[in-house]
Amino acid sequence: MRETILFDNALVAAEMLRRGQLVAFPTETVYGLGADATNSDSVAGIFESKQRPSFDPLIVHVADMAAAQQVVVDFPELARKLAAEFWPGPLTLVLPKQRHISDLVTAGLPGVGLRIPNHPLAIEVLKAVGRPVAAPSANPFGGISPTTARHVLDGLGGKIDGVLDGGPCGVGLESTVVSLTTDQPTLLRPGGLPVEDIEAVIGPVHRAVSDVFQDDAAQPAPGMLSRHYAPNTILQTIAPDDTALPVKNKLCGLLTYGQFPCGQGFEHIEQLSTSGDLRTCAANFFARLRSLDSANLDVIIARSFPAKGLGIALNDRLHRAAST
Ligand code: TXA
Ligand code: MG
Repeated sequence: MRETILFDNALVAAEMLRRGQLVAFPTETVYGLGADATNSDSVAGIFESKQRPSFDPLIVHVADMAAAQQVVVDFPELARKLAAEFWPGPLTLVLPKQRHISDLVTAGLPGVGLRIPNHPLAIEVLKAVGRPVAAPSANPFGGISPTTARHVLDGLGGKIDGVLDGGPCGVGLESTVVSLTTDQPTLLRPGGLPVEDIEAVIGPVHRAVSDVFQDDAAQPAPGMLSRHYAPNTILQTIAPDDTALPVKNKLCGLLTYGQFPCGQGFEHIEQLSTSGDLRTCAANFFARLRSLDSANLDVIIARSFPAKGLGIALNDRLHRAAST
């Protein structure tokens, strides 16, 4: 066990990262567990503290385009367009990496996932570190992503050196990951930036079929295991228009949004957004899922989302949470 300190000064986080320590920090999507991406020992610490398999690559975070250019070999036209439009923001681009980025970061792949986060504290940290920072979501592997400093401490307290508290994350879902290492831009993970917004800028994006990933093989989106983002409680999804009915003789919770047809008999209901606004649903999603998971229920019933905009990423998280 090590002591995990909680603080709110970005410069303290930067100093610790420069010393090779593991520090969680807020971004607009979820909290990331940071390590100096040029320090293999620190990067190895991320895999150890999260119990993350080494085939699952990490996203590298930088403060600006000048720093981004130090991480990848070059920025092709499409990458330039996307960066100009969506950075800082919830978009990760996979591009060929430079040699000084540790192979541990990319799980041996030639491409590195790179993004500029849209959060003032994250930017302050990254500027002060002056080096690229590798950061996966700051949760034990496979679990629910953290959107508050408290969530980070609940999962990784005693295993990391510090947590920079910046309050709750505004977007609430991880970044959208797009690979530009192949002829056709490919969506590896739907996320906080709707893929339709990306297509409006660069045209059609190929969708990697995410449901058939195997647990141990090198996949186009390594780490996107079918079971992920998962609560300990069994989770079942229903279609957006289905009536939510509790399972007989079980303590049931309901995760829902908007106006919904609902049967009686739920022990615990979490409403993501009364208006059904998908941005609000996303911002509340992981925290509400955690509340349900800690309510000692037998089953969580979750209403899935219309398959457009942020609904695509929300459904992806729900279906992985429901996978056994
Ligand atoms: O919003 C986010 O992306 C957050 C914040 C902290 O930035 N980070 C995050 O990291 O969600 P993580 O490690 O939980 O998910 C990263 C995923 C990997 O599991 C993999 O699917 C994809 O991004 N990825 C990262 N680097 C990649 C690479 N070089 N090639 C292909 N996929 C990559
Ligand atoms: Mg994660």
